Amino acid sequence: MGSISVFRFVCLMFLVAWITEVEAGNGVFDVANYGAVADAKTDNSKVFEDVFNKACQSEGSNVVLIPNGTYMLGPVMFSGPCKGPITFFITGALIAHTDVASYVDSYSWITFYRIDRLVVRGCGSLDGQGPSAWGHNTCSKSKNCNPLPSSMGFDYVTNSRVTHLKSINSMGVHMNVFECTGLKFDRIHLIAPEDSPNTDGIHIGESTHVHISDSVIATGDDCISMGPGSSSINISNVQCGPGHGISVGSLGRSANEDDVSGLTVKNCTFNGTQNGLRVKTWASSFASNVFDLTFQDINMDNVNNPIIIDQQYCPSGNCQQGNSQVQIRDARFRNIKGTSSSKIAVTFECSPSKPCQNIELSDIDLVYVGDGGPATSSCAYASGVAYGPVHPPSCI
Ligand SMILES: *[C@@H]1O[C@H](CO)[C@@H](O)[C@H](O)[C@H]1NC(C)=O
Ligand SMILES: *[C@@H]1O[C@H](CO)[C@@H](O)[C@H](O)[C@H]1NC(C)=O
Ligand SMILES: *[C@@H]1O[C@H](CO)[C@@H](O)[C@H](O)[C@H]1NC(C)=O
Ligand SMILES: *[C@@H]1O[C@H](CO)[C@@H](O)[C@H](O)[C@H]1NC(C)=O
Repeated sequence: MGSISVFRFVCLMFLVAWITEVEAGNGVFDVANYGAVADAKTDNSKVFEDVFNKACQSEGSNVVLIPNGTYMLGPVMFSGPCKGPITFFITGALIAHTDVASYVDSYSWITFYRIDRLVVRGCGSLDGQGPSAWGHNTCSKSKNCNPLPSSMGFDYVTNSRVTHLKSINSMGVHMNVFECTGLKFDRIHLIAPEDSPNTDGIHIGESTHVHISDSVIATGDDCISMGPGSSSINISNVQCGPGHGISVGSLGRSANEDDVSGLTVKNCTFNGTQNGLRVKTWASSFASNVFDLTFQDINMDNVNNPIIIDQQYCPSGNCQQGNSQVQIRDARFRNIKGTSSSKIAVTFECSPSKPCQNIELSDIDLVYVGDGGPATSSCAYASGVAYGPVHPPSCI
């Protein structure tokens, strides 16, 4: 893929410059100098945590360096607050311990907790060893399953950045963002097979000012998903596919969920995904609000549901009867073009109890690739405006 080789090139140029700069100063904690073994089978969890603690508790700006080589790790927790900014410079490969039982108390394989001014970079890679874990996923059968650990978890992390990093075969979500403020992901590449369970690229919850750009995400589940309490989220220049697209939700599972608001998705491409731009709330659900969403300059290539609001979401087919109480309003779909692999390219299936309000459709051109006539739209309990050329014709 062309854009990936561009990332890699920029990455290596940058790497050389950066290492030179770092080596000139102090504050570099190279895990290899503290006993980490790059043989892909020694468990380095304790060494990594100890090295992190040394770096974290040193004054000034510090770097944990993970050099070339393959380092195996079980669940690790990098816990702040630290005395200054901290960078994980990963040029090597990290691979996960394959004993799924060892993660029972961990939401993530690698957790960053309560850190301010964290940078994770270096052109290295993470391998969650998903194939040995996916068989333990029970979420297709049960709504209350325990998810498998994400590859990286960011909990209470602020003013931070993840860049130039590749993650393959996460057990669960690749990157999980929880209670963060000011977190930027750019030039990351997340990969898992199309049929791998719940391997979302990035999942965001209870977080604000999260920006994701210039990245490629090809997984078995959502490209990016946003749960309760996600606000001020900017996503731009992201290529998704395969996978399930960019989703708000599922929402309304629990009482007193925080609202989702202020989402911008710009200049993104969906290729062969199950959905493109989706908002989903459980069929019977508790009350909350979703508002101020902008989806703009989006390309769809062979996407099953390019635009979909689904307030009857029930993937297991076994949900309580009833209406969603989640109110969706002020959702703008602008300049969305390309092809749909299903005849109904635009679906607004809103809740009879809380009809969608103020939906905007403008400059839409979605073409059905199959036989049996042109693409259509389907609306229930949705109101708003449509202007400019809109194909398929609007039903709001
Ligand atoms: C580390 O690996 C990268 C890519 O695999 C390579 O370009 C670089 O030269 C290596 N660095 C060292 C110090 O061996
Ligand atoms: C996020 O998106 C909004 C709406 O497009 C825009 O006003 C804002 O400048 C963006 N912020 C960043 C940091 O890109
Ligand atoms: C849109 O995104 C693509 C990558 O997916 C990038 O190459 C292009 O420069 C972006 N365009 C703008 C106007 O940002
Ligand atoms: C989608 O993927 C197919 C197959 O890999 C490729 O030929 C096509 O150019 C891609 N479309 C876009 C818009 O990137």
